[in-house]
Amino acid sequence: MARIALVGSGLIGQAWAIVFGRAGHAVTLYDAEPAALPRAAKAIETRLADLARLGLLTEPEAAIAARIGYQPVLAAALEGADYVQESVPERLEAKLPVYAELDRLAGPDTILASSTSGFPASAFTAELAGRARCLVAHPINPPFVTPLVELCPAPWTAPEVVERSYDLLKAAGMAPIRIRREVQGFIANRLQGALLTEALKLVQAGYASAEDVDIAIKHGIGLRWSFMGPFETIDLNAPGGIADYIARYGRLYEEIGADQLTPLAWTPELAAALEGERRQQLPADQLAARSDWRDRRLMALAGHRRAMDEQLGT
Ligand SMILES: NC(=O)c1ccc[n+]([C@@H]2O[C@H](COP(=O)([O-])OP(=O)(O)OC[C@H]3O[C@@H](n4cnc5c(N)ncnc54)[C@H](O)[C@@H]3O)[C@@H](O)[C@H]2O)c1
Repeated sequence: MARIALVGSGLIGQAWAIVFGRAGHAVTLYDAEPAALPRAAKAIETRLADLARLGLLTEPEAAIAARIGYQPVLAAALEGADYVQESVPERLEAKLPVYAELDRLAGPDTILASSTSGFPASAFTAELAGRARCLVAHPINPPFVTPLVELCPAPWTAPEVVERSYDLLKAAGMAPIRIRREVQGFIANRLQGALLTEALKLVQAGYASAEDVDIAIKHGIGLRWSFMGPFETIDLNAPGGIADYIARYGRLYEEIGADQLTPLAWTPELAAALEGERRQQLPADQLAARSDWRDRRLMALAGHRRAMDEQLGT
């Protein structure tokens, strides 16, 4: 059992509390905004109840909730912590002072990991005496059902810090990956960005509606993406494996690559057109309910994946 301090108790901090509490660790959640902590406790209770209802917990939800403490004083939250997961707002002006405090207050061997979606660790740890114990551990929302964590070191992060974080997260049921050096957007958002850019270009050039592009993913290629990646996909899409696939279809992808559509501009006009189409399908006042629906579907999918892993192997 490790002692985990979570700094920032918003959407992602709450989700980390479930990840680490479920794994048997002693978790302390801290937030600079005192009213945020009771809010987080309530949200965690609701999420744990959802997970229990779907059979995704291996012990009573009260046992997990009992491992999660709430602490309005940062120094007390960091007391004895082996690992800190920072999840404060995605602004450098927010991260920089928090890291100065974390480095000053946390024990010398405590790992300082950031949930940041877009900043490399070098952007907010360069000046710290303890910068070798800092790295990015970027989750996908919500991390208690989406196991990927992207570990990305700064140039000065000690390799053993990456390995200790990897082992902790893996043992907690997550699927960590090691990014070898800093790259903007890490891996998952770069892949998502490539797909999103092409999807937007197709809509902007009038080839299909946004709704039909969504259907191509959710009723087509997205189905297998929940249990295999693009390389395994093409390895299995030709009888002779990946080299056979490339021999058969490499030319098609070369032609698509050469046939670049007009470069995408993320203009207000494009945003307005997409907003118009999406709001017809989902009125703005139903966005929050639909997000809950998404999380429940993800939880059900996680349960299905676990059952299939046990039955068929990974
Ligand atoms: N929301 C996502 O889908 C998602 C996914 C992956 C990673 N992330 C990253 O996680 C981080 C947090 O995102 P979020 O969506 O949970 O944000 P959020 O706004 O829901 O929560 C941020 C919390 O930090 C608290 N806070 C602000 N200043 C603080 C300080 N100095 N010390 C302690 N707490 C402080 C706020 O009161 C708030 O409770 C960001 O870096 C974001 O990029 C978000």
